[in-house]
Amino acid sequence: MQSRSFFKSRPVQSLGLFGVIAVALHGTSSFASDAESTESSLREDLAHYLRPSEIPAPADNQITPERVALGKALFFDPRLSGSNSISCATCHSPGLGWSDAQPTAVGVGTKHLGRNSPTILNSAYNSTQFWDGRAATLEEQALGPIADPGEMAQDLSQLVDKLSRIKGYHPLFEAAYPGESISEQTMAKALATFERTIVSTEAPFDRWVKGDPTAMSDAAVRGFHLYEGKANCVACHSGFNFTDNSFHNLGVRPFDEDPGRYKVKPVAILKGAFKTPTLRDVELTAPYMHDGSVKTLRDVVSFYNGGGKIKENLSPEIRPLNLSDQEVDDLVAFMRALTGEPRSVTMPRLPVE
Ligand code: HEC
Ligand code: HEC
Repeated sequence: MQSRSFFKSRPVQSLGLFGVIAVALHGTSSFASDAESTESSLREDLAHYLRPSEIPAPADNQITPERVALGKALFFDPRLSGSNSISCATCHSPGLGWSDAQPTAVGVGTKHLGRNSPTILNSAYNSTQFWDGRAATLEEQALGPIADPGEMAQDLSQLVDKLSRIKGYHPLFEAAYPGESISEQTMAKALATFERTIVSTEAPFDRWVKGDPTAMSDAAVRGFHLYEGKANCVACHSGFNFTDNSFHNLGVRPFDEDPGRYKVKPVAILKGAFKTPTLRDVELTAPYMHDGSVKTLRDVVSFYNGGGKIKENLSPEIRPLNLSDQEVDDLVAFMRALTGEPRSVTMPRLPVE
């Protein structure tokens, strides 16, 4: 693999519409680094690891700055919860890799829920949402946590009334969805649009792929070769978002405690199977797995090295890996090289009155 000749010059992808929106809205130039690296020579054989310049969005809910602004206000607004105290950002906090640093999420009344809060980073690219994939789109996903009695416990029709009484929301909805009213649908569409803009920024690994051989440490480079080779993480964590968007049982927990994908699709092989999560920014989102039972990245690799914990109905790729301590460390170094440049996120001023 190392012997391939791979340095070829190639112009860098354009910023695309989204880059412009992101820069305008967040007032940051996190995408400028992409534009500046026109001199670098891409490793063509690894180009599939770079983020596509287009963010997928449904035809009836294209990304516009007004929709992003409304969705951002809703995302950070605790008045979306029945107790007016929990926002989406409580569990998907930008300071914590868009997650919450808890083993499992804590909802209204400090009740612990059954599953870990996943990051919403790159959720635009997921082909299903939730650990078990029970929602097909971000629009479909968005209202779930609001109405869920354990999460935000807010009756949705009452929420529409509540938001309609906050005058400051009217112009935001009208600008985002002209002629449509404040409704469950427009709320969901705006939240989904904001989430689509939360995409990964350039990581040391990306700079390495783009042709800078010094961007990753030797340990991380060795880790990358293990990831694609002996450890075969790439079998499931594939492509630029490091996920196959599919479901596997790693033996994290007995499946009678949480059947995972099997509850959505009752096929035997899916007992205890959960969605492959992204590895982008994974360093920032401990603890790990659908139940938050694995504390550190090193513990994750040790878990795989042992071939899973509950060895029942395991995915066929999960087997002891015979990795040395050094190889375990190298894989961890590689995952840390997937952490993107920090992006500044400004808190929106929420509408009042
Ligand atoms: C109390 C904590 C909590 C709150 C509040 C919350 N979430 Fe979540 N979120 C979770 C948990 C836990 C999951 C995983 C649940 C599951 O898989 O069954 C999740 C899953 C998601 C996912 C799926 C990500 C993926 O990769 O599958 C998205 C998107 C998301 N939430 C967005 C939101 C939005 C938008 C809001 C506000 C309307 C919100 N969340 C409020 C805890 C929370
Ligand atoms: C058979 C498919 C498969 C293989 C092979 C695989 N993974 Fe995973 N990975 C998953 C799934 C599925 C989950 C979530 C499982 C769960 O929570 O029950 C996961 C979870 C993780 C997590 C936790 C992420 C988070 O946000 O909680 C990390 C880190 C990770 N894998 C890294 C690796 C590494 C490193 C390798 C190679 C040693 C690897 N994976 C091999 C499918 C796979």
